[in-house]
Amino acid sequence: MDQPKRYLVTSALPYANGLKHIGHLAGAYLPADIYVRYLKAQKRDVVFVCGSDEHGTAIPIQATKEGTTARAIIDKYHPIMEQNFRDLGIAFDIYHRTSEPLHHETAQEFFTKLNDAGELEIKESEQFFDEQANTFLADRYIKGTCPNCSFPGAYGDQCENCGKSLSPDELINPVSTLSGNAPVKKNTKHWYLPLNRHEEFLRNWILKDHANDWRPTVLGQCKSWIDGGLQPRAVTRDLDWGVKVPLKEAEGKVLYVWFDAPIGYISATKQWALNNEKDWRPYWEDKDTKLVHFIGKDNIVFHCLIFPVMLKLHGNILPDNVPSNEFMNLEGDKMSTSRNWKIEMQDYIDDFINKENGGSQMADVLRYYLTSIAPETKDSEFTWQGFQDANNNELVSIFGNYVNRCLVLMHKLCKGKVPPLHTESLTDLDKETFAEAQRTKEKVEALLEQYKFRDALFEVINLARTGNQYMQKKEPWIVAKQTGDNGLPTAEAQASIDNTLHICLQLCANLAILINPFLPFTARKICYLLKVVDKMLDWENAGKIKLLSTGYSLRAPELLFRKIEDSEIAYQLEKLKAAVSNREPLIVNEEKTTAVEPVQETKSDVKPEIVFDDFAKVDLKVGKIVAAEKVEKADKLLKLSVDLGFETRTIVSGIALHFKPEEIVGKQVTVVTNLAPRKMRGIESNGMILMAEDTNGKLHFINPETDINPGAGVS
Ligand code: MF3
Ligand code: ZN
Repeated sequence: MDQPKRYLVTSALPYANGLKHIGHLAGAYLPADIYVRYLKAQKRDVVFVCGSDEHGTAIPIQATKEGTTARAIIDKYHPIMEQNFRDLGIAFDIYHRTSEPLHHETAQEFFTKLNDAGELEIKESEQFFDEQANTFLADRYIKGTCPNCSFPGAYGDQCENCGKSLSPDELINPVSTLSGNAPVKKNTKHWYLPLNRHEEFLRNWILKDHANDWRPTVLGQCKSWIDGGLQPRAVTRDLDWGVKVPLKEAEGKVLYVWFDAPIGYISATKQWALNNEKDWRPYWEDKDTKLVHFIGKDNIVFHCLIFPVMLKLHGNILPDNVPSNEFMNLEGDKMSTSRNWKIEMQDYIDDFINKENGGSQMADVLRYYLTSIAPETKDSEFTWQGFQDANNNELVSIFGNYVNRCLVLMHKLCKGKVPPLHTESLTDLDKETFAEAQRTKEKVEALLEQYKFRDALFEVINLARTGNQYMQKKEPWIVAKQTGDNGLPTAEAQASIDNTLHICLQLCANLAILINPFLPFTARKICYLLKVVDKMLDWENAGKIKLLSTGYSLRAPELLFRKIEDSEIAYQLEKLKAAVSNREPLIVNEEKTTAVEPVQETKSDVKPEIVFDDFAKVDLKVGKIVAAEKVEKADKLLKLSVDLGFETRTIVSGIALHFKPEEIVGKQVTVVTNLAPRKMRGIESNGMILMAEDTNGKLHFINPETDINPGAGVS
């Protein structure tokens, strides 16, 4: 595509069922924001839309977990998510909601148009039904073992573990999450999008037309879907939460969340147009619009196959690219909401940004590290050590240091003003250094247009590195020692100093422009230090040598980034380990109760087979509770002292709702003694008490029939 007339950029609409983590941020939001900031700096016509995905079974399921309504859930999470994005500098033009009437109307109109045109099929089929709850079991209301990776908690629509999109029939040992019972099959009627009719279109459009510009990982997934044979996909559900199917004969049915949610991009654009007195239509109907969807890899099939077919049938433009990211792991393990192995955006904001020694610069630090390890071509890994290194060794030592040195030396050697450029005495090195800024601009541009954010950022940092080397070679502080009789540098020396600092400062201005898409807060801070307006950040200014005028006085230096201490990293690692749920429902992490998914304890919930050696690693002993007390401000936790014969240990257990402290003192229990210690509410717990839960949810200790010596081994 030649330069398009306008752009519409989308980020996947996050489910409003809980807080989002930095893996989400790195996947669909940060790269989109970088791209959009770049386009806007180029003064292109671009609209960046996102919003909360407020339908689907994920929402009412979370409501049950939190003991509230679906409406209360979306009203709780939507504003937090919106604020989190803002705090991290993700600047959507609109952050909409799919619960808005405008969205419902838009989605219904879309369905009606396709249905009236005969593009949908109606089929009767048998679907899973929970007899006890008297309801059909859509998507996440059904769980079972993933046929692809054997993960026991896969949902009826997708396995969270391996990302595979599933249908309920594929699950091994399906169980209703409502009652815990095995479901029965019952007849029901649904509307289907016959993807099979569009195989040729998809094959040509994706595998031929976009063979060279889409990411190989995206093309690979699309190809395997298409080669695997496309099937009709149901676009309606038996559910009472969502967009009602706009047909009399479809009482009690709603649109499937994956049918309505992407239409949310269109309704968000409509709302943006209303807010700004613009026309939304060209953004979705004019072929001169470049549509780009930023997503994570578990969303590929929906954005590359299903939604494009819907768009085509509805008469809209198709995406020009779908730059999907792979997954970002965390400290050697998959990020996971259900296992609480994650760093929530909110947590990062609380710990680094909303702190005295933090601020928006710390948002840029996260943006920097996430971009530098962006999983663009393969899965990548976030480590707190890597985060600290990126900050201390790159942002502080290279980028921040360069800008700081320029300002310090300018104040010291050039009276706090931008020194003149003496063109007659420019050296090759001076010219070469400046030419590097021009080249960097071109490289960054080319890389960003190809969605290679990581490499583009690397180029900008490299320019700062070049700046440092230049300064090191020119040594203006040494040159300043070539003084005349009056004790001041000679005219020749001052000319060299002036040229060096002039070029260095112009390079700082260039760095601000080039870093702006990635680190917007830092770019503005540089503008502040250089006393220029943000308008300087327009992309067309990059590569120019005359951004700062001679004689202009600049502000006193302030550090752009602060060092991150080892203790901060140790604290984060500790926190991560303490929050992780080991899928043991009785150990409730008080701080994060909402994120821990209760495990369905049913007969069919048998964990995968292990070898004896695995079992033998667990050290089980009989212990005796010798003291018990409540943990302050944690209504589920008891702090126990347990006599194990050889020592008495502190164990924190999530049983306070079931037992009073005084009634359990003296009881014998079975203890896992070699679990890694973890902190709960500031108390270190050194082990775990085994409990059995009966069908009424009542807890029972696992203990020997008669009192025996504490410390007795159990095997
Ligand atoms: N809510 C979905 C998820 O978190 C993404 C929806 S993207 C949209 O996986 F296109 F449907 F909006
Ligand atoms: Zn799986």
